[in-house]
Amino acid sequence: MTATEDVKVDLGTRPLIIASNRGPVTFSQRDNGSFDARKGSGGVVTAVSAIAREHCPIWIAAAMTEGDRHRAAVAQEADEKLIEFGSPAEFRLRFVVPSPDAYHQYYNIISNPLLWFLQHYLWDTPRSPDITAEIWDAWRNGYVHVNQLFADEIVAAADAAGGEPLIMLQDYHLYLCAGFVRKQRPDAHLQQFVHIPWPDPDYWRLLPSEIRRAICEGMLGNDIVGFQTPEHGRSFMYTCQAYVPDAVVDYDGSSVRWQDRRIEVRTYPISIDAAEVRRLAYSKEARSHDRYLPNHWNEFTVLRVDRAEPSKNIVRGFHAFDRFLEAHREFQGRVNFVAITVPSRMDVVEYQDYLDDVSAVVGRINAKYANVETGWQPIHLIMGENYPRALAAMKWYDVLLVNSIIDGMNLVAKEGALLNERNGVLILSEGAGAVSQLGEHAIIIGPTDVEGTADALHRALTMPLDERRRRAEGLRRSVEADDVTDWFENQVADMLKYGRNQDGSEGDPEEEEPLPANVVSLTGTDRVSTAGA
Ligand code: G6P
Repeated sequence: MTATEDVKVDLGTRPLIIASNRGPVTFSQRDNGSFDARKGSGGVVTAVSAIAREHCPIWIAAAMTEGDRHRAAVAQEADEKLIEFGSPAEFRLRFVVPSPDAYHQYYNIISNPLLWFLQHYLWDTPRSPDITAEIWDAWRNGYVHVNQLFADEIVAAADAAGGEPLIMLQDYHLYLCAGFVRKQRPDAHLQQFVHIPWPDPDYWRLLPSEIRRAICEGMLGNDIVGFQTPEHGRSFMYTCQAYVPDAVVDYDGSSVRWQDRRIEVRTYPISIDAAEVRRLAYSKEARSHDRYLPNHWNEFTVLRVDRAEPSKNIVRGFHAFDRFLEAHREFQGRVNFVAITVPSRMDVVEYQDYLDDVSAVVGRINAKYANVETGWQPIHLIMGENYPRALAAMKWYDVLLVNSIIDGMNLVAKEGALLNERNGVLILSEGAGAVSQLGEHAIIIGPTDVEGTADALHRALTMPLDERRRRAEGLRRSVEADDVTDWFENQVADMLKYGRNQDGSEGDPEEEEPLPANVVSLTGTDRVSTAGA
């Protein structure tokens, strides 16, 4: 979709309610009792914050830390219904405050790893997952319970806001929420966007029927469900057909009929806030890293930036680099692989183990190639969360490696494409959602193909400059032509179009004007987005 095709929506007086597990800010309390607020991180917060400035939504999020819980308690004592943030206000926050135990069950046992691993095809199925009594307990007393708390908070916020709020739910933490809200407010306008892949029905069978059916039925409480790619939307419809006995799927119409309601299934490929990413990449904070980051560069620099996350396939990326150095000895001493790695979900044992694997493989490869005379070591692992630093680094790579096993979209690929100043080459996994928009200008690899990835590294590092330039320009143009505001505006436009009418009857898309040009239909060949998703 191009900038000139922007869909501008006017919400009028309709309140906007967003619900996501992680909030836009995390609080910590100082000794004097006052609070520090730090911007949250991750795909959802980054994308939704970008649109918050204009629409000042009510944002409902879980109190994840001690500081959040204290801030929520202070708000409750003061009868402060909404915590305003920003000046002028960017959003108004309302916390859901589960007990730490319930939150642990919901976040660290069910959402991550159970659902996350399932949706990224990460389970080693002969061995895991085991649906034990502990998982059942975490499902009932953690996931179901916290989703109910979210729903209660949403209904309370909607009642207080009045009007006809548009309610936008985010991601896999909240699959039951729409169903719970719908029970209390049958007329609610509900939409949910799933930021991560949706696997095929066979893989969902790793979960007991009670759980997978509850997830599908919960999702069908929405008016619209949105996915990053048409394939994931189609998998969702197959899954509903397989596991929700009375659901009727209309693949041509891209919708599911269930309990006398029609649920639209749509695709909205997410993107980045290009202006904001550029601003941050050249901010004072990012520039402060320009002084020492070059210590990590070499004649050739390969970069990767990820959360320490099994689906990102970091370990295989290093194995491929090892193979490349073995096969092309002339590059030894001349190329550095800089891996910026953000520890993530450290209360989950699978993530701790994965981070250990990452450190171990880096140690092994560095020991194998390190040159004591020159001081060269091939891999530079930079740990810690620092977004401006990551953006600063993206300006300098020759090759960006994004080899995720499977990924909803992968925004690093887009940030790199926008910021890189060296005609850097993107090596991109065919499992990343970004491939449909950026694939034409990238070198595509199969994520398990270590040998193929090693070859791709060689090809990228020996690519003639004019080809590098042509590809880099193509990548940049593609990212510039697509903005996160389009992602948001298209969803709102669809909610206004397909949601329930003021009198409680459903909108009938068949009788309405055709979809806007930049809204992607899952099935209609006549309605494919210019974004190529
Ligand atoms: C992915 C998910 C997001 C989440 C992010 C960070 O991008 O799709 O929902 O915001 O990971 O995850 P975290 O568990 O740190 O909030």
